[in-house]
Amino acid sequence: MYNDKVLEVFASRKNAGEIENANGVGTVGNASCGDIMKIFLRIEDNIIKDASFKTFGCAAAVATSSVATEMLKGLTVEQALNLTNAQVVEALEGLPPQKIHCSVLVEEAVKEAVNDYLKKRD
Ligand code: FES
Repeated sequence: MYNDKVLEVFASRKNAGEIENANGVGTVGNASCGDIMKIFLRIEDNIIKDASFKTFGCAAAVATSSVATEMLKGLTVEQALNLTNAQVVEALEGLPPQKIHCSVLVEEAVKEAVNDYLKKRD
């Protein structure tokens, strides 16, 4: 069902676990599949310095979390808010249609994490 890229990212997942001193955390879940995704961000001077994830879900949920946390590092807060699930799917060279919702979950979790940071900062 998955392409080689997704399987490779799933197997060698990066940024799994919690970052110490995260200042933005976003948790989202999908009611229909029951999967839960948590994104941790360390933001300094408006730049994402570090990103990690804890995901309890399918292989696509883990792969999208891993690739998204890699993509986030070095982005500004504004760029992170504009990260779309389509960009994450593209970085994974595609996902099966029934797994697109897994990438939507990561887009939502990233937005939650950035908004958590913005709320705490204000
Ligand atoms: Fe729900 Fe993948 S099946 S996040």
